[in-house]
Amino acid sequence: MKVRKKWEKKRNSMKDYNQNEQVSLFDTGDIPQILREDAACDEVDFVSFRELVPEINDTGYLTHAIVSYPAKFIPQVVRYAINTYTKEDNWIIDPFAGSGTVGVEAYLCKRNAVLLDLNLLLNHIMPLKIYRGKERLSKEHLLKLLDDMQESTQHRFNPSWSNVQYWYAPEILELLSQYWGYIYSIEQEVYSTIIKTSLLKVSKRFSYTEHRTPKLARSKRKLAAIEKLIRENWQDQLIEIVYDHALKTLGSINDFMMHTQHHQNQVEFQGGVDSSYIEMPRECDALITSPPYLQAQEYIRSTKLDLFWLGHTEEEVRELSRLEIPYRKADRIIHTETLDKVREKLTRKDLIHRLDSYFCHTINALENSMNRLKPHAAACIFVGNPRIDGITVELWRILSEYFTEQGFSHEKVYEDRIKTRQLFGVRKNKNPDGMKSEFLLILRKTDA
Ligand SMILES: C[S@@+](CC[C@H](N)C(=O)[O-])C[C@H]1O[C@@H](n2cnc3c(N)ncnc32)[C@H](O)[C@@H]1O
Repeated sequence: MKVRKKWEKKRNSMKDYNQNEQVSLFDTGDIPQILREDAACDEVDFVSFRELVPEINDTGYLTHAIVSYPAKFIPQVVRYAINTYTKEDNWIIDPFAGSGTVGVEAYLCKRNAVLLDLNLLLNHIMPLKIYRGKERLSKEHLLKLLDDMQESTQHRFNPSWSNVQYWYAPEILELLSQYWGYIYSIEQEVYSTIIKTSLLKVSKRFSYTEHRTPKLARSKRKLAAIEKLIRENWQDQLIEIVYDHALKTLGSINDFMMHTQHHQNQVEFQGGVDSSYIEMPRECDALITSPPYLQAQEYIRSTKLDLFWLGHTEEEVRELSRLEIPYRKADRIIHTETLDKVREKLTRKDLIHRLDSYFCHTINALENSMNRLKPHAAACIFVGNPRIDGITVELWRILSEYFTEQGFSHEKVYEDRIKTRQLFGVRKNKNPDGMKSEFLLILRKTDA
């Protein structure tokens, strides 16, 4: 097979297989520098989680980077919280699990985890990220499926999305629907799931949307790039990325299996659920989470293309978008000293609504999970300090003020101050929300 041979040559010259492209809010790829001289107050402990967890020197190690997801945790923060605030076999809950970083770290550290998220992507990602097969996955079998996919012309899959043509050149859409058609026609197991994640990558890369920014947005630059690509050997380029990504993923899963051979823990996950109102499945020993940002993301919209190719319908996606924080109406107004001061300063009604929506639903979701924590359990909440209309919103302080009235004690705040940060590769403004620090707030359940 032409493409396969070409790919194999390239593979031999490639060194590091886990250095996948990763779109992440927290992961700048640089080693952060802590500005200790800038210490704002003595309320926080200045740390660098990367320095505190030197055993993790690649944020995309093992299966962490097999799928891109906006605003991922860096695994060092999660590992630090797990090591410091939980014990072996404990249950950890993450009500904003996103791409499941807490699940991977929990399993690696012999803990159990419950992962919840509004985004359905979680259900597709987790079976690969914590794959627990008995035998190493076979590269030859994967290559055979990829070869068959290239040859097969009898199946088609078109996403159930009225707007799909708007995002693709017709010939690219035709080839993608052929490859996806093949993958849905074979048995749905780990190999086909691996290939799906690779098809997701090219389905975004070869669309009219900017693939390095999370939001779905057609740009002149991308339209020109696709037009140019179509005049070249785009089919070869596309399939080469698929082979490359699929084999990298298989390698990451095999490495993960090797590291966790004797682990017996459980990772339960439910994507497509609203953590603000779902009945929490079990009592847990700790919470480790990072809530959505005040005005940074629309996670469902960012992953819409993926969700359609994965077989979800427009109606499902619309319904989930409606539930996203902070774009839905608040059903109660949260009051704390710091939050009230921010609200007083705001003059724009739409921003007051956004602030109220954000705190209502974020706190509902946290409270919903924290109510099911065991006595003395720690809640580790990782947040930034966003701005709204130029006003800094001290999230950790607001959460601390709220939860210390609800049976929790304030234990500690870590501040990881980073010199430069970049939200997404192609943005010019490297610090759009004016956030220079990230905070890990530790609360402790006090009631018996
Ligand atoms: C900062 S991201 C979490 C990323 C995650 N820590 C990771 O490492 O991938 C916040 C998550 O909150 C989710 N979210 C937003 N509104 C939600 C809701 N009502 N219920 C559950 N999850 C929600 C988003 O889908 C997003 O995945």
